[in-house]
Amino acid sequence: MGKKLHNELDKQLDFEEILLDSLPNPIYYKDINGDFIRCNSRFSKLLDTSKENIIGKSAYDFFPISVVTRHKIIDANIMKTLKSNKDEVHFVKKSGEVRYYNLSKTVCLNQEGNVAGIICIMTDITQRITEKEFLIQQSKFAEMGEMIASIAHQWNEPLVELSAQVQRFELLHAMNKINENMMHDFVNDTMVQIKYMSNTLSDFRNFLKPSTVKKSFEIKKAIKEIFEIIGKQIFYLNINVSLEYKNVNEEIYIYGYENELKQVLLNIINNAKNKIIKIEKEKVFNPLIKIKVYQNERFNIIEISDNAGPIPEEIIGQLFEPFFTTKSEGTGLGLYMAKLIVEDKMSGKISVKNDVDNVIFSIKIPINKE
Ligand SMILES: Nc1ncnc2c1ncn2[C@@H]1O[C@H](COP(=O)(O)OP(=O)(O)OP(=O)(O)O)[C@@H](O)[C@H]1O
Ligand SMILES: [Mg+2]
Repeated sequence: MGKKLHNELDKQLDFEEILLDSLPNPIYYKDINGDFIRCNSRFSKLLDTSKENIIGKSAYDFFPISVVTRHKIIDANIMKTLKSNKDEVHFVKKSGEVRYYNLSKTVCLNQEGNVAGIICIMTDITQRITEKEFLIQQSKFAEMGEMIASIAHQWNEPLVELSAQVQRFELLHAMNKINENMMHDFVNDTMVQIKYMSNTLSDFRNFLKPSTVKKSFEIKKAIKEIFEIIGKQIFYLNINVSLEYKNVNEEIYIYGYENELKQVLLNIINNAKNKIIKIEKEKVFNPLIKIKVYQNERFNIIEISDNAGPIPEEIIGQLFEPFFTTKSEGTGLGLYMAKLIVEDKMSGKISVKNDVDNVIFSIKIPINKE
């Protein structure tokens, strides 16, 4: 090769290097065995090491084995099909900081048209993800007012009961009638009330904690816990609640974020409850909130319906938009959050439809085959 040509090539390589390094996205290039051939400085910064230390090594040297194994399968697939692939991952950096990325992978062909490797461009989406988390937590606080009212409501009865028991005990003492057995009964009876109150409170505290990992949980139990929190209020409002559960023999497990899903259900039930309270002022009817849980091939499905009149057709398409509300005191965040939680965080689908006088919300969550 002539000296001039050599210089030209060097210049071009330098230029590519500068170009790659000036991009805000981490980028790498791997050969067909998965060994890094090239990367830019954003990528080496992400791994907290130098480029020289990356080239020639593979993902196994830097990432957790579970992540690498999953991506080996993705890589093999795109090298076979030549289709590009998009995926979302997160990294815990050496400092402990967590960052989220979109990965976009494309196959590279050599001059003969054979697969030579894979180029991956990463986009940092940490800000978007943390903003979303923040909004979800925010909306929990919005729900909190309603929950505190529920707790106050639920505590009323056991408190009345407790004070009656305590006063009776004082009376028995004044009459010199307290023996060992009575003492025992008193402790048992009061503890029942206290346990109940403490349970409602710990349900509430659990609800406020963000769920950080996806796990399998029993949907029937989750629904039961929601009604332990708001059941009394629904009862005093004379709203009937029915739960139809299709899997008679087997429990239905949902794979996802338990507290967040409870928040979604609570929100939908509260919306129905608010509408029922409003309609009850105008006409006499038998309010009913129906919850149906069943499965098909691919999804767990939860349907929540109320019979307090349909949603006007002009607004039905806007319900899941942020800040859409028809209430003077509403934030319009409830259903928007529900959509974020179900669709973005749990890869499911949420929808609403009218059925004559009923409004039906359905939530579909993919069944986790593992
Ligand atoms: N079951 C329902 N029947 C009829 N309309 C409903 C029902 N659920 C929700 N909507 C409509 O959707 C709108 C948006 O609901 P969303 O929960 O997002 O906010 P909101 O309830 O108005 O406010 P917030 O949740 O802060 O109280 C409501 O204002 C209401 O008009
Ligand atoms: Mg609402």
